Amino acid sequence: MTRARIIGVGAYAPKRILTNEELERMVETSDEWIVQRTGIRERRIADESEATSDLALKAAQQALERAGVEPGEIDLIVVGTTTGDMAFPTTANIVQHQLGCRNAGSMDLYAACSGSIYSLSVGSQYIESGKYRTVLCIGAECLSRIVDYTDRGTCILLADAAGAAVLRASDGEAGILDTDLYSDGRYGELLIQPAGGSRYPATHETVDKRMHFCRMKGNEVFKVAVRMFGDCAERILSRNGITADDLALFIPHQANLRIIEAAVKRLKVSMDRVIVNVDRYGNTGAASVYVALEEALALGRIKPGDLVLMAAFGGGFTWGAALLRW
Ligand code: COA
Repeated sequence: MTRARIIGVGAYAPKRILTNEELERMVETSDEWIVQRTGIRERRIADESEATSDLALKAAQQALERAGVEPGEIDLIVVGTTTGDMAFPTTANIVQHQLGCRNAGSMDLYAACSGSIYSLSVGSQYIESGKYRTVLCIGAECLSRIVDYTDRGTCILLADAAGAAVLRASDGEAGILDTDLYSDGRYGELLIQPAGGSRYPATHETVDKRMHFCRMKGNEVFKVAVRMFGDCAERILSRNGITADDLALFIPHQANLRIIEAAVKRLKVSMDRVIVNVDRYGNTGAASVYVALEEALALGRIKPGDLVLMAAFGGGFTWGAALLRW
């Protein structure tokens, strides 16, 4: 059976660090509160000259270089993002041009913070079906651009980064073994950026009402997220006849340390087999799982043959999991 194997991973986070101490001066909050409730100590914020495609491009270049793949070999680019450069052209299209991927189709995929798993799943399907040989999957966000820095419930969480993975068709045992995608629109109002689309196009009124910023009912998101995370992780493991003990590493979406800990407790995985970098990057949306994967590889925490589970959830709601043999 042809599988999609990840042959190169890259990540990029903007240089500018926004600390909890700086946020203390912007809204009524404290370093202690943020660390205790979220585990986040600092996050990266793009500077004014950077947009999502700039971050995506840097992550993609690193992934291609590590994979030893030329831009012309890429058949398809899938970018998971909720903060694309503009409505169109798509961010994937911009990256396609900047990278010089002359033979590639390109698409953006909107699944909020599940964009990592969604992009990986879509990319792998094209390879498994035999349609394409090499797919570039990217998760990239400039969430700071939709954050209301007077809203202490969201500005402490969201941040900017990009990650990328080059998938290549392979006949061996290694590769993406399975992916699962879920969604439930009943929860849409809990995490939403209301304006800027066809429902509420930009007007003075939408700007005055701050409708272009992300709004969240954090406490309710928290409860649903913990349940979804655990459900999809358990389901993909049991369907593949794998137990949590078999996993070398769990790479969860980095939204909040408490959500990760709750999922880990339910899965019965020890924390030393979980990648956590939310303390340094905050919630980077569709980028987070890719950025954490890159870190895991850089730290030598994944070896050939290892079983790796990834899971994410996000606005919509959307959620999903991916199971890989490295
Ligand atoms: N600093 C200090 N106090 C804050 C605060 C902040 N940054 N943000 C909220 N509070 C206050 C609230 O106003 C509330 O005050 P009140 O009791 O006087 O009304 C109190 O803290 C408790 O609020 P609550 O929302 O119940 O806190 P919480 O423990 O649920 O933590 C979040 C808030 C946002 C950290 C938490 O709900 C969370 O992380 N949710 C998930 C969000 C997420 O992951 N979203 C992305 C999904 S991809």
